[in-house]
Amino acid sequence: MKIGGVAYRSIWLNADGATVEVIDQTLLPHRFAIRSLMSLADAEHAIKTMIVRGAPLIGATAAYGMSLAMAADPSDSMLEEAHGCLLAARPTAVNLRWALDEMASVLRPIAPTQRKQVAYQRAAEICDEDVALNRAIGEHGLKIINGIASKKETNATINIMTHCNAGWLATVDFGTALAPIYLAHDAGLKVHVWVSETRPRNQGASLTAWELGQHGVAHTVIVDNAAGHLLRCGEVDMVIVGSDRTAANGDVCNKIGTYLKALAAKDNGVPFYVALPGPTIDWSLADGATIPIEERGALEVSHISGRNKHHGVSTVALTPQASAIANPGFDVTPARLVTGLITERGVCAASKEGLLGLYPENANGAPTTRPLSRVDKLPPRRQRARNLA
Ligand code: MRU
Repeated sequence: MKIGGVAYRSIWLNADGATVEVIDQTLLPHRFAIRSLMSLADAEHAIKTMIVRGAPLIGATAAYGMSLAMAADPSDSMLEEAHGCLLAARPTAVNLRWALDEMASVLRPIAPTQRKQVAYQRAAEICDEDVALNRAIGEHGLKIINGIASKKETNATINIMTHCNAGWLATVDFGTALAPIYLAHDAGLKVHVWVSETRPRNQGASLTAWELGQHGVAHTVIVDNAAGHLLRCGEVDMVIVGSDRTAANGDVCNKIGTYLKALAAKDNGVPFYVALPGPTIDWSLADGATIPIEERGALEVSHISGRNKHHGVSTVALTPQASAIANPGFDVTPARLVTGLITERGVCAASKEGLLGLYPENANGAPTTRPLSRVDKLPPRRQRARNLA
């Protein structure tokens, strides 16, 4: 996608063939800056601190993180260490595990002397594959938008609500939930996007609004709490969101607040679609009940940052100092609230049968409820309130 007329991906390899470049998403929309990742520790830090975020981009960064580790030390022990530390960087998006398992399965059987080159090559392929998956999601989603447009008056605006950022910044390019919107806009359809701010980190207000604006897509930022009202007043034709992990039965885990939108959409008969690529499906989980929900730091809730009148960024406190704070980062939307899943292979019902219809190769491994691993486990409730950012 383009920024000021220049085409960018969210992650790319520097001309030196070793350094990985990313857009620092913690600074947007106020500052556009590129960060260089030169080591495994840099990649881990970028994922943990959300310099990069969004399920597919987390996976792509982890793949390059493995490459950086192999460039420094291609030993078996480093391979396992890199896999472990990157996997622990963020718990919910399953693309992280998918990308790391994919890298490890390619690297483990080969000689250490070959690992650096093969790792960079596979990481680049994972990035290119992500772009292709998202483009295909866009094309399948565009058919749904066209269907909605055909039921409206000619040239009427199609109002689409989204949550968080599932745009090109969250992927390598195009986005998942926003890919159909970009294609509809480019095809000349009159689309308007309701962008919910997505407290506490405001990925909607800061990232989705920014990237839609860069592409010239009409949009309006709303507070999260306005979504139900707009859905009830007939101001929304459809909702499209992304997913961080989709269970084998079609339950969908996405940014906190997604579930409330799905409830309100269902109550008002508004179609609620989830756009996701294959690597976001966790076939090991029978349903969404055991998806690990990331508990994030209290400072994200108790404080807020924004541009001040001197064009710097200031952070101010919002809550009483003594108040306990909880900050679950994601929620699970049950499949029954989802109108359809938009994947790179087509649109299906949010159900085991629907998913297996598109991904029949997963029919044999009957999904089981996987026990939570060490990194997946939630901190004890009493610790959460003290969990500073
Ligand atoms: O905490 P984040 O910003 O990484 O959360 C991102 C989301 O919830 C996205 O909706 C999801 O990763 C889908 S991205 C295509």
